[in-house]
Amino acid sequence: MTSTSGQTTVADDTTTADAAFAQLRRGTTLLWQGDFHNGRQLIKAVDRRLTKQAARKTRKTENGKRQVRGTAAELFLRQREERARRAEILGRIVVDLEEKDGHWFLDLRRAPEVAEACGHAYGAAPRQECRRIPFTELQGVLGAYQWHLKGVDVPALGDKVYPDYGVFSPTRSEYVDLVDEVAASSLKSGMSVLELGTGTGVLAAVLVRRGAGQVTATDVNPRAVVCARANLDRLGVGERCEVVEADLWPSAPETADVVVFNPPWLPGTPTSELELGIYDASSDALRRFLAELADHLTDGGEGWLVLSDLAEHLGLRTREQLEAWIAEGGLQVLGREDTTPRHPKVLREDDPLHVARSREVTSLWRLGRA
Ligand SMILES: C[S@@+](CC[C@H](N)C(=O)[O-])C[C@H]1O[C@@H](n2cnc3c(N)ncnc32)[C@H](O)[C@@H]1O
Repeated sequence: MTSTSGQTTVADDTTTADAAFAQLRRGTTLLWQGDFHNGRQLIKAVDRRLTKQAARKTRKTENGKRQVRGTAAELFLRQREERARRAEILGRIVVDLEEKDGHWFLDLRRAPEVAEACGHAYGAAPRQECRRIPFTELQGVLGAYQWHLKGVDVPALGDKVYPDYGVFSPTRSEYVDLVDEVAASSLKSGMSVLELGTGTGVLAAVLVRRGAGQVTATDVNPRAVVCARANLDRLGVGERCEVVEADLWPSAPETADVVVFNPPWLPGTPTSELELGIYDASSDALRRFLAELADHLTDGGEGWLVLSDLAEHLGLRTREQLEAWIAEGGLQVLGREDTTPRHPKVLREDDPLHVARSREVTSLWRLGRA
Protein backbone atom coordinates (compact mmCIF):
# COMPACT_ATOMS: atom_id res chain seq x y z
CA MET A 1 0.00 0.00 0.00
CA THR A 2 1.44 3.35 -0.90
CA SER A 3 -1.04 5.94 0.33
CA THR A 4 -4.33 6.24 2.12
CA SER A 5 -7.12 8.81 1.89
CA GLY A 6 -10.29 8.33 3.96
CA GLN A 7 -11.93 5.03 3.06
CA THR A 8 -9.98 4.63 -0.17
CA THR A 9 -6.49 3.14 -0.21
CA VAL A 10 -4.20 2.83 -3.16
CA ALA A 11 -3.26 -0.80 -3.89
CA ASP A 12 -0.52 -1.91 -6.26
CA ASP A 13 1.87 -4.76 -7.08
CA THR A 14 3.28 -4.67 -3.54
CA THR A 15 -0.13 -5.35 -1.99
CA THR A 16 -0.53 -8.95 -0.81
CA ALA A 17 -3.83 -10.77 -1.24
CA ASP A 18 -4.12 -11.21 2.55
CA ALA A 19 -3.63 -7.49 3.15
CA ALA A 20 -6.15 -6.61 0.43
CA PHE A 21 -8.67 -9.10 1.83
CA ALA A 22 -8.32 -7.66 5.33
CA GLN A 23 -8.82 -4.09 4.06
CA LEU A 24 -11.84 -5.05 1.95
CA ARG A 25 -13.46 -6.84 4.88
CA ARG A 26 -13.08 -3.65 6.91
CA GLY A 27 -15.06 -1.81 4.22
CA THR A 28 -12.10 -0.06 2.57
CA THR A 29 -12.08 0.65 -1.16
CA LEU A 30 -8.86 -0.29 -2.97
CA LEU A 31 -7.88 1.90 -5.91
CA TRP A 32 -5.80 -0.39 -8.11
CA GLN A 33 -2.74 1.33 -9.56
CA GLY A 34 -0.52 -1.69 -10.24
CA ASP A 35 -0.09 -3.88 -13.29
CA PHE A 36 -3.40 -4.78 -15.01
CA HIS A 37 -2.79 -8.54 -14.95
CA ASN A 38 -1.61 -8.51 -11.35
CA GLY A 39 -4.88 -6.73 -10.54
CA ARG A 40 -6.80 -9.63 -12.12
CA GLN A 41 -4.75 -12.08 -10.06
CA LEU A 42 -5.54 -10.11 -6.91
CA ILE A 43 -9.27 -10.34 -7.65
CA LYS A 44 -8.98 -14.11 -8.12
CA ALA A 45 -7.03 -14.46 -4.86
CA VAL A 46 -9.60 -12.42 -2.90
CA ASP A 47 -12.39 -14.43 -4.52
CA ARG A 48 -10.74 -17.69 -3.38
CA ARG A 49 -10.63 -16.34 0.18
CA LEU A 50 -14.32 -15.44 -0.03
CA THR A 51 -15.10 -18.98 -1.24
CA LYS A 52 -13.19 -20.47 1.70
CA GLN A 53 -14.95 -18.14 4.10
CA ALA A 54 -18.38 -19.13 2.71
CA ALA A 55 -17.50 -22.86 2.85
CA ARG A 56 -16.62 -22.54 6.54
CA LYS A 57 -20.25 -21.58 7.18
CA THR A 58 -21.45 -24.98 5.90
CA ARG A 59 -21.37 -28.19 7.96
CA LYS A 60 -19.04 -31.11 7.36
CA THR A 61 -20.63 -34.57 6.97
CA GLU A 62 -19.05 -37.76 8.39
CA ASN A 63 -17.08 -38.38 5.18
CA GLY A 64 -15.63 -34.88 5.41
CA LYS A 65 -17.73 -33.36 2.63
CA ARG A 66 -19.35 -29.96 3.11
CA GLN A 67 -23.14 -30.17 3.33
CA VAL A 68 -25.53 -27.37 2.45
CA ARG A 69 -28.78 -27.50 4.36
CA GLY A 70 -32.20 -26.02 3.75
CA THR A 71 -34.99 -26.09 1.20
CA ALA A 72 -34.25 -25.30 -2.45
CA ALA A 73 -35.81 -21.83 -1.96
CA GLU A 74 -33.60 -21.16 1.06
CA LEU A 75 -30.49 -22.36 -0.78
CA PHE A 76 -31.34 -20.22 -3.80
CA LEU A 77 -31.89 -17.09 -1.69
CA ARG A 78 -28.70 -17.78 0.28
CA GLN A 79 -26.74 -18.31 -2.94
CA ARG A 80 -28.03 -14.98 -4.29
CA GLU A 81 -27.20 -13.16 -1.05
CA GLU A 82 -23.73 -14.71 -1.06
CA ARG A 83 -23.18 -13.64 -4.68
CA ALA A 84 -24.36 -10.10 -3.89
CA ARG A 85 -22.00 -9.95 -0.89
CA ARG A 86 -19.12 -11.23 -3.01
CA ALA A 87 -19.91 -8.73 -5.79
CA GLU A 88 -20.02 -5.89 -3.25
CA ILE A 89 -16.65 -6.81 -1.69
CA LEU A 90 -14.87 -7.48 -5.00
CA GLY A 91 -16.54 -4.35 -6.42
CA ARG A 92 -14.51 -2.29 -3.95
CA ILE A 93 -11.34 -2.99 -5.95
CA VAL A 94 -11.69 -0.06 -8.33
CA VAL A 95 -9.82 1.53 -11.25
CA ASP A 96 -9.89 5.00 -12.76
CA LEU A 97 -10.96 5.29 -16.38
CA GLU A 98 -9.81 8.51 -17.94
CA GLU A 99 -10.55 10.49 -21.06
CA LYS A 100 -7.68 10.76 -23.55
CA ASP A 101 -8.11 12.25 -27.04
CA GLY A 102 -11.89 11.76 -26.77
CA HIS A 103 -11.64 8.05 -25.81
CA TRP A 104 -11.71 6.04 -22.61
CA PHE A 105 -8.23 5.12 -21.42
CA LEU A 106 -6.89 2.96 -18.60
CA ASP A 107 -3.54 4.19 -17.35
CA LEU A 108 -2.20 0.92 -15.90
CA ARG A 109 0.88 -1.07 -16.87
CA ARG A 110 0.02 -3.86 -19.40
CA ALA A 111 -3.57 -2.57 -19.58
CA PRO A 112 -5.46 -3.64 -22.70
CA GLU A 113 -6.99 -1.16 -25.12
CA VAL A 114 -10.32 -0.26 -23.49
CA ALA A 115 -11.51 2.58 -25.74
CA GLU A 116 -13.87 0.58 -27.94
CA ALA A 117 -15.32 -1.68 -25.24
CA CYS A 118 -15.88 1.20 -22.82
CA GLY A 119 -17.26 3.39 -25.61
CA HIS A 120 -19.74 0.58 -26.35
CA ALA A 121 -20.82 0.28 -22.71
CA TYR A 122 -20.63 3.92 -21.53
CA GLY A 123 -20.82 5.99 -24.70
CA ALA A 124 -18.23 8.58 -25.71
CA ALA A 125 -15.86 9.79 -23.00
CA PRO A 126 -16.70 13.36 -21.95
CA ARG A 127 -13.71 15.74 -22.03
CA GLN A 128 -11.45 15.49 -18.97
CA GLU A 129 -13.73 12.87 -17.46
CA CYS A 130 -12.36 10.49 -14.84
CA ARG A 131 -14.72 7.67 -13.94
CA ARG A 132 -13.98 5.32 -11.04
CA ILE A 133 -15.46 1.87 -11.66
CA PRO A 134 -15.09 -1.59 -10.08
CA PHE A 135 -12.30 -3.60 -11.73
CA THR A 136 -14.82 -6.47 -12.00
CA GLU A 137 -17.19 -4.18 -13.93
CA LEU A 138 -14.39 -3.34 -16.35
CA GLN A 139 -13.75 -7.08 -16.82
CA GLY A 140 -17.48 -7.50 -17.54
CA VAL A 141 -17.42 -4.64 -20.05
CA LEU A 142 -14.38 -6.15 -21.84
CA GLY A 143 -15.93 -9.66 -21.85
CA ALA A 144 -19.32 -8.42 -23.08
CA TYR A 145 -17.63 -6.53 -25.90
CA GLN A 146 -15.99 -9.75 -27.10
CA TRP A 147 -19.45 -11.39 -27.20
CA HIS A 148 -20.77 -8.35 -29.01
CA LEU A 149 -18.03 -8.66 -31.66
CA LYS A 150 -18.26 -12.44 -31.95
CA GLY A 151 -22.05 -12.76 -31.87
CA VAL A 152 -24.17 -15.69 -30.72
CA ASP A 153 -25.19 -18.43 -33.15
CA VAL A 154 -28.94 -18.82 -33.54
CA PRO A 155 -29.59 -22.10 -35.38
CA ALA A 156 -33.25 -21.18 -36.03
CA LEU A 157 -32.07 -18.13 -37.98
CA GLY A 158 -29.03 -19.80 -39.54
CA ASP A 159 -27.30 -16.60 -38.50
CA LYS A 160 -26.00 -14.73 -35.47
CA VAL A 161 -27.31 -12.02 -33.23
CA TYR A 162 -24.94 -9.56 -31.57
CA PRO A 163 -25.81 -8.85 -27.93
CA ASP A 164 -24.91 -5.40 -26.57
CA TYR A 165 -23.51 -4.81 -23.09
CA GLY A 166 -26.32 -5.22 -20.53
CA VAL A 167 -28.71 -7.02 -22.91
CA PHE A 168 -30.01 -10.58 -22.39
CA SER A 169 -28.21 -12.92 -24.77
CA PRO A 170 -29.92 -16.01 -26.33
CA THR A 171 -27.10 -18.40 -25.45
CA ARG A 172 -29.67 -21.11 -24.63
CA SER A 173 -31.04 -21.63 -28.09
CA GLU A 174 -33.63 -24.31 -27.30
CA TYR A 175 -36.35 -21.81 -26.37
CA VAL A 176 -35.74 -20.00 -29.67
CA ASP A 177 -36.20 -23.35 -31.46
CA LEU A 178 -39.45 -23.83 -29.53
CA VAL A 179 -40.84 -20.48 -30.75
CA ASP A 180 -39.59 -21.27 -34.26
CA GLU A 181 -41.33 -24.68 -34.29
CA VAL A 182 -44.65 -23.31 -33.02
CA ALA A 183 -44.45 -20.39 -35.47
CA ALA A 184 -43.71 -22.81 -38.34
CA SER A 185 -46.90 -24.74 -37.63
CA SER A 186 -49.26 -21.99 -36.40
CA LEU A 187 -48.24 -18.54 -37.62
CA LYS A 188 -50.18 -17.60 -40.74
CA SER A 189 -48.57 -15.36 -43.30
CA GLY A 190 -49.19 -11.67 -42.62
CA MET A 191 -50.31 -12.08 -39.00
CA SER A 192 -49.63 -9.13 -36.72
CA VAL A 193 -47.31 -9.78 -33.77
CA LEU A 194 -46.41 -8.03 -30.52
CA GLU A 195 -43.17 -9.27 -28.97
CA LEU A 196 -42.69 -8.06 -25.40
CA GLY A 197 -39.23 -7.95 -23.79
CA THR A 198 -37.38 -8.38 -27.09
CA GLY A 199 -33.78 -8.27 -25.77
CA THR A 200 -31.53 -8.76 -28.82
CA GLY A 201 -34.63 -8.96 -31.06
CA VAL A 202 -34.00 -12.65 -31.71
CA LEU A 203 -37.63 -13.82 -31.40
CA ALA A 204 -38.93 -10.88 -33.48
CA ALA A 205 -36.51 -11.95 -36.24
CA VAL A 206 -37.65 -15.59 -36.02
CA LEU A 207 -41.30 -14.51 -36.26
CA VAL A 208 -40.70 -12.33 -39.34
CA ARG A 209 -38.80 -15.18 -41.00
CA ARG A 210 -41.83 -17.41 -40.29
CA GLY A 211 -44.14 -15.00 -42.09
CA ALA A 212 -45.32 -12.40 -39.54
CA GLY A 213 -46.67 -9.30 -41.27
CA GLN A 214 -45.69 -6.57 -38.86
CA VAL A 215 -43.91 -7.09 -35.53
CA THR A 216 -43.93 -4.47 -32.80
CA ALA A 217 -41.28 -5.31 -30.22
CA THR A 218 -40.83 -3.64 -26.84
CA ASP A 219 -38.31 -3.67 -24.04
CA VAL A 220 -38.06 -1.77 -20.79
CA ASN A 221 -34.25 -1.73 -21.11
CA PRO A 222 -33.17 1.11 -23.46
CA ARG A 223 -29.97 -0.78 -24.33
CA ALA A 224 -32.12 -3.67 -25.61
CA VAL A 225 -34.13 -1.32 -27.84
CA VAL A 226 -30.95 -0.07 -29.55
CA CYS A 227 -29.52 -3.62 -29.74
CA ALA A 228 -32.70 -5.18 -31.20
CA ARG A 229 -32.99 -2.41 -33.79
CA ALA A 230 -29.40 -3.04 -34.96
CA ASN A 231 -29.83 -6.85 -35.09
CA LEU A 232 -33.14 -6.70 -36.94
CA ASP A 233 -31.71 -4.29 -39.53
CA ARG A 234 -28.61 -6.44 -39.97
CA LEU A 235 -30.75 -9.57 -40.42
CA GLY A 236 -32.68 -7.76 -43.14
CA VAL A 237 -36.05 -7.85 -41.35
CA GLY A 238 -35.96 -4.31 -39.94
CA GLU A 239 -38.58 -3.00 -42.34
CA ARG A 240 -41.20 -5.28 -40.83
CA CYS A 241 -40.27 -4.54 -37.22
CA GLU A 242 -40.78 -1.58 -34.97
CA VAL A 243 -38.88 -1.54 -31.67
CA VAL A 244 -40.03 0.73 -28.86
CA GLU A 245 -39.06 1.31 -25.25
CA ALA A 246 -42.06 0.40 -23.11
CA ASP A 247 -43.06 -1.30 -19.89
CA LEU A 248 -44.72 -4.38 -21.49
CA TRP A 249 -47.18 -2.88 -23.98
CA PRO A 250 -46.52 -0.38 -26.79
CA SER A 251 -48.96 2.55 -27.08
CA ALA A 252 -49.86 1.25 -30.56
CA PRO A 253 -51.01 -1.09 -31.94
CA GLU A 254 -53.26 -2.12 -29.06
CA THR A 255 -53.97 -5.63 -30.33
CA ALA A 256 -52.23 -8.34 -32.35
CA ASP A 257 -52.96 -11.82 -33.70
CA VAL A 258 -50.04 -13.24 -31.73
CA VAL A 259 -48.46 -11.78 -28.58
CA VAL A 260 -45.14 -13.38 -27.59
CA PHE A 261 -43.43 -12.90 -24.22
CA ASN A 262 -40.35 -14.63 -22.85
CA PRO A 263 -40.33 -12.87 -19.46
CA PRO A 264 -37.72 -12.88 -16.72
CA TRP A 265 -38.36 -16.28 -15.15
CA LEU A 266 -37.08 -16.05 -11.58
CA PRO A 267 -38.76 -14.06 -8.79
CA GLY A 268 -36.12 -11.71 -7.32
CA THR A 269 -34.93 -8.13 -7.55
CA PRO A 270 -32.77 -7.42 -10.62
CA THR A 271 -29.42 -5.82 -9.68
CA SER A 272 -28.35 -4.77 -13.20
CA GLU A 273 -29.79 -4.12 -16.67
CA LEU A 274 -28.71 -7.63 -17.64
CA GLU A 275 -30.60 -9.13 -14.71
CA LEU A 276 -33.78 -7.41 -15.97
CA GLY A 277 -33.88 -10.38 -18.35
CA ILE A 278 -33.76 -12.99 -15.58
CA TYR A 279 -35.19 -11.63 -12.32
CA ASP A 280 -38.54 -10.00 -11.72
CA ALA A 281 -39.60 -9.02 -8.20
CA SER A 282 -42.77 -10.95 -7.26
CA SER A 283 -43.19 -12.12 -10.89
CA ASP A 284 -44.65 -8.67 -11.55
CA ALA A 285 -44.15 -8.60 -15.35
CA LEU A 286 -45.51 -12.15 -15.72
CA ARG A 287 -48.60 -11.38 -13.64
CA ARG A 288 -49.35 -8.11 -15.46
CA PHE A 289 -48.87 -9.84 -18.81
CA LEU A 290 -51.42 -12.52 -17.88
CA ALA A 291 -53.86 -9.98 -16.40
CA GLU A 292 -53.74 -7.73 -19.50
CA LEU A 293 -53.17 -10.17 -22.38
CA ALA A 294 -56.86 -10.77 -23.22
CA ASP A 295 -57.33 -7.05 -23.97
CA HIS A 296 -54.42 -7.11 -26.44
CA LEU A 297 -55.57 -10.06 -28.58
CA THR A 298 -57.55 -9.80 -31.80
CA ASP A 299 -60.53 -12.17 -32.04
CA GLY A 300 -59.09 -15.68 -32.13
CA GLY A 301 -55.65 -14.28 -31.27
CA GLU A 302 -53.10 -16.18 -29.18
CA GLY A 303 -50.59 -15.32 -26.48
CA TRP A 304 -47.38 -17.36 -26.53
CA LEU A 305 -45.76 -17.35 -23.11
CA VAL A 306 -42.24 -18.82 -22.99
CA LEU A 307 -41.54 -19.77 -19.38
CA SER A 308 -39.05 -21.93 -17.51
CA ASP A 309 -40.43 -23.83 -14.53
CA LEU A 310 -37.18 -23.45 -12.53
CA ALA A 311 -38.96 -21.12 -10.09
CA GLU A 312 -41.37 -24.00 -9.35
CA HIS A 313 -38.53 -26.46 -8.67
CA LEU A 314 -36.95 -23.87 -6.38
CA GLY A 315 -40.21 -23.43 -4.47
CA LEU A 316 -40.44 -19.74 -5.44
CA ARG A 317 -43.70 -20.09 -7.39
CA THR A 318 -46.21 -22.92 -7.79
CA ARG A 319 -47.84 -24.34 -10.89
CA GLU A 320 -51.21 -23.70 -9.21
CA GLN A 321 -50.33 -19.99 -8.87
CA LEU A 322 -49.43 -19.75 -12.54
CA GLU A 323 -52.65 -21.50 -13.58
CA ALA A 324 -54.69 -19.26 -11.27
CA TRP A 325 -53.16 -16.11 -12.86
CA ILE A 326 -54.01 -17.50 -16.32
CA ALA A 327 -57.64 -18.13 -15.30
CA GLU A 328 -57.97 -14.77 -13.49
CA GLY A 329 -56.80 -13.05 -16.70
CA GLY A 330 -59.84 -14.50 -18.53
CA LEU A 331 -57.56 -16.86 -20.46
CA GLN A 332 -57.53 -20.56 -21.28
CA VAL A 333 -54.61 -22.83 -22.16
CA LEU A 334 -54.91 -23.85 -25.81
CA GLY A 335 -51.79 -26.02 -25.75
CA ARG A 336 -48.28 -26.34 -24.36
CA GLU A 337 -44.98 -27.35 -25.97
CA ASP A 338 -42.04 -28.28 -23.72
CA THR A 339 -38.29 -28.31 -24.13
CA THR A 340 -35.39 -29.20 -21.83
CA PRO A 341 -32.63 -26.65 -21.42
CA ARG A 342 -29.16 -27.82 -22.39
CA HIS A 343 -27.37 -25.02 -20.59
CA PRO A 344 -24.13 -25.92 -18.79
CA LYS A 345 -25.49 -25.24 -15.27
CA VAL A 346 -27.59 -28.41 -15.60
CA LEU A 347 -24.34 -30.33 -15.69
CA ARG A 348 -22.72 -28.74 -12.63
CA GLU A 349 -23.13 -31.33 -9.91
CA ASP A 350 -21.27 -29.22 -7.33
CA ASP A 351 -24.09 -26.66 -7.52
CA PRO A 352 -26.33 -27.22 -4.46
CA LEU A 353 -29.29 -26.40 -6.71
CA HIS A 354 -28.25 -29.04 -9.23
CA VAL A 355 -31.35 -31.19 -8.67
CA ALA A 356 -33.74 -28.27 -9.21
CA ARG A 357 -31.83 -27.08 -12.27
CA SER A 358 -31.62 -30.56 -13.81
CA ARG A 359 -35.42 -30.86 -13.68
CA GLU A 360 -35.99 -27.54 -15.43
CA VAL A 361 -38.39 -27.55 -18.37
CA THR A 362 -39.09 -24.52 -20.57
CA SER A 363 -42.58 -24.38 -22.04
CA LEU A 364 -44.39 -22.37 -24.65
CA TRP A 365 -47.91 -21.87 -23.30
CA ARG A 366 -50.47 -21.09 -26.00
CA LEU A 367 -53.13 -18.92 -24.41
CA GLY A 368 -56.43 -17.70 -25.80
CA ARG A 369 -59.42 -15.82 -24.41
CA ALA A 370 -61.54 -18.10 -22.19
C1 LIG B 1 -35.71 -13.51 -20.76
S1 LIG B 1 -35.32 -12.02 -21.56
C2 LIG B 1 -35.91 -12.41 -23.20
C3 LIG B 1 -35.25 -11.60 -24.28
C4 LIG B 1 -35.61 -12.04 -25.72
N1 LIG B 1 -37.02 -11.93 -25.99
C5 LIG B 1 -35.19 -13.48 -25.92
O1 LIG B 1 -36.08 -14.33 -25.95
O2 LIG B 1 -33.99 -13.75 -26.01
C6 LIG B 1 -36.56 -10.91 -20.93
C7 LIG B 1 -36.53 -9.53 -21.54
O3 LIG B 1 -37.65 -8.81 -21.00
C8 LIG B 1 -37.27 -7.49 -20.72
N2 LIG B 1 -38.21 -6.99 -19.72
C9 LIG B 1 -38.25 -7.25 -18.39
N3 LIG B 1 -39.30 -6.62 -17.82
C10 LIG B 1 -39.94 -5.98 -18.82
C11 LIG B 1 -41.10 -5.14 -18.88
N4 LIG B 1 -41.82 -4.88 -17.77
N5 LIG B 1 -41.47 -4.62 -20.09
C12 LIG B 1 -40.74 -4.90 -21.22
N6 LIG B 1 -39.63 -5.65 -21.21
C13 LIG B 1 -39.25 -6.20 -20.04
C14 LIG B 1 -35.82 -7.60 -20.28
O4 LIG B 1 -35.14 -6.37 -20.40
C15 LIG B 1 -35.30 -8.68 -21.23
O5 LIG B 1 -34.80 -8.12 -22.42
